[in-house]
Amino acid sequence: MAEIGRRALLGTGLAIGAGSALAACTGDHPKADKAKAFDPHDWESVRAQFALDPGLAHFAAFIFASHPAPVREAIQRHRDALDKDTAGYVERFTEHEEAVRKAAAGYLGPGARPGDVALTDSTTMGMGLLCSGFELRPGQDVLTTEHDFFGTYDALGKLSDRTGATVRRVRLYDDPAAANVGDIVARLRAAIRPRTRLVVVTWVHSSTGVRLPVKAIAAMLADLNAKRDKADHALLAVDGVHGFGAVDTDVTGLGCDFLTSGTHKWLFGPRGTGLLWSRAWDAVAPLIPSFSFPRGPEPQGPGMAATPGGFHSYEHRWALTEAFAFQTAIGRDRIAARIRDQATRLKEGLAGIGSVTVVTPKDPELSAGLVMCRVAALSPREAVDRLRAEHRVVASVTPYDDPLLRFGTSIVTTPEQVDQAVKAVAAIA
Ligand SMILES: Cc1ncc(COP(=O)(O)O)c(C=O)c1O
Repeated sequence: MAEIGRRALLGTGLAIGAGSALAACTGDHPKADKAKAFDPHDWESVRAQFALDPGLAHFAAFIFASHPAPVREAIQRHRDALDKDTAGYVERFTEHEEAVRKAAAGYLGPGARPGDVALTDSTTMGMGLLCSGFELRPGQDVLTTEHDFFGTYDALGKLSDRTGATVRRVRLYDDPAAANVGDIVARLRAAIRPRTRLVVVTWVHSSTGVRLPVKAIAAMLADLNAKRDKADHALLAVDGVHGFGAVDTDVTGLGCDFLTSGTHKWLFGPRGTGLLWSRAWDAVAPLIPSFSFPRGPEPQGPGMAATPGGFHSYEHRWALTEAFAFQTAIGRDRIAARIRDQATRLKEGLAGIGSVTVVTPKDPELSAGLVMCRVAALSPREAVDRLRAEHRVVASVTPYDDPLLRFGTSIVTTPEQVDQAVKAVAAIA
């Protein structure tokens, strides 16, 4: 992906950083948190758990999580304990890491084992561990798509440099708004060669908002693999970050072999946390020495050996348990419905503005919480700047060669704010 993409991403990050500084003044303190009782069935109560600036409509909150109160409290608890007696508290490493893995496995779905979860710092780290450790035999090749994140291309470039394997890209749709399941699966199928060993896709494209039919892709690969030796199976790896925490689907039910995701976007987990889950760890050599000591009550697993060692910012990593609990208390199904209903409302509203073209598919089965559009007379950057300055609506620019105006509907936004965003776009369009 071009350098412009990286610059645009960094630019977005800086804008968010400024917003967070504002938010921090409004109550990011454990004492303030206690006052806000958490009722997971009340969306206002859910929103009140965040220290986000209430004067802004946060349609870019998915980029880098604001921590809800239970996560902030857990971070503070671990931080205080580490500051008080670091040596004593890290002795409890196994207990805390296993709690995180257990919570992650519960959220990943039936059949997920805590020992199959590698704890990472981000989606990107998980993709790097996977691609840098993936073992290929001479002549095997790798397939990805034209719609993936630049971090994926970098990771696959390193895989290619290390092994000499060819990495090809296939285009899965020409017009995102008209994308359809049959065509996506057929195009991917047509690009797979007899020696293709790894297929890498992104669950929800951060360039267009298209959600790939991962189950249908996995079913197509299962058919194909039925005719191959196990060592030649085409394995499916998914960058799941914009689906994980946004879509009501068990990862173990997707049929993929690897899923990497940050837990600091839609899941609103601690910043700097993520995971790499696999049911095919045999295909990957651990890259970085692990700190997952072989002791404790849980069975050890390959995900633990694949978890990069060295001391980490444990106050964040160990507070991930509370992030899963927060999501589970609200209900993955209710969260996904809340995101989908607002996204549909937003797409319908934007489609009614003459000079706006909605790029993301209308169909909720082919989209999630990301909504991208073009505004005829404005660059996406100008649109984002004016929406914030003139209408207190926070949106973002997609960090790709063909930049678009991007919104993310989530548990921190409301249907009323969706209407506010539509009006704001109409005013600047
Ligand atoms: C599809 C996709 N993958 C990965 C990332 C990076 O995520 P992380 O910060 O968790 O590495 C992003 C955006 O930040 C993205 O849009």
